[in-house]
Amino acid sequence: MKNKSLISIDDYTRDDYLEILRVAAEFEKKPVQNILEGVVVATLFFEPSTRTRLSFESAVSRLGGKIIGFTDAASSSVKKGESLKDTILTVSNYSDLIVMRHPLEGSARYASEVATVPVINAGDGANQHPTQCLLDLYSIQQTQGTLENLKISIVGDLKYGRTVHSLLMAMSNFNPTFNFIAPDELKVPEEYKRFLDLKNIKYEEHVDLAENILDSDIVYMTRVQRERFADPLEYEKVKNVYILNNEMLNGTKDNMKILHPLPRVNEIDEDVDENEKAYYFPQALNGVFTRQAIMTKILGLK
Ligand code: CP
Repeated sequence: MKNKSLISIDDYTRDDYLEILRVAAEFEKKPVQNILEGVVVATLFFEPSTRTRLSFESAVSRLGGKIIGFTDAASSSVKKGESLKDTILTVSNYSDLIVMRHPLEGSARYASEVATVPVINAGDGANQHPTQCLLDLYSIQQTQGTLENLKISIVGDLKYGRTVHSLLMAMSNFNPTFNFIAPDELKVPEEYKRFLDLKNIKYEEHVDLAENILDSDIVYMTRVQRERFADPLEYEKVKNVYILNNEMLNGTKDNMKILHPLPRVNEIDEDVDENEKAYYFPQALNGVFTRQAIMTKILGLK
């Protein structure tokens, strides 16, 4: 991991995932340390973010490092027509690590090829979100005590949801059974199903939510990704397709936890927040420890 960019979750191995989770658990016990003193991390967000950007910034601040960057490309020289290549080469001069979110699939890989410092993909279009995936793995391990042999229902926008694509690839290392719950318009893309077929991973596809989560260990809810739809009318058709409520949780397994990468729009009733099966806000907190682990491993400081 040292000095290597993290662009897709399959840039890392199963052993790498477990090592990140081990170090994240150390940071959970002691999140404030001076490990990043003198380190500058650049956060370049070409798309909106609350959790990813702020948890990276919290993670760096709690480890004594400094953050530079922008939250809106319109406030950078991109607005004057500067290319992504020139932006990345310039920011490489000012930082030890670049964290970038960008709407174009493949942009993070391209940035990593031109940068002179490691790049962490904080989400590239509908493609990948590897740091979210690692905090999802950490959350699954924390709530289930294991990553192995779990039944995982993934619900909602499985077509455009980049966290879904990263999660199914990573979890395929731990013999899961997947239950994909989506309307026809938002099913898992064929390339990911081929990936699972090649690894002999079991999965079922369903449309109904309530009757298909009863035997799940994890129910991973997702938002319908309005920003990825070319036609707003297509979004209108599916935007309220699933709304998880407390009644639907009757009869689910005692150990079951609800995860969601957030932001939520309306796919989980707010009443569910009080349910002991709701884990999405602790999951967001886990983002700090996991990102501390990822950055310190890449910087060779752990
Ligand atoms: N989970 C996630 O990526 O959230 P943000 O878009 O708020 O960063």
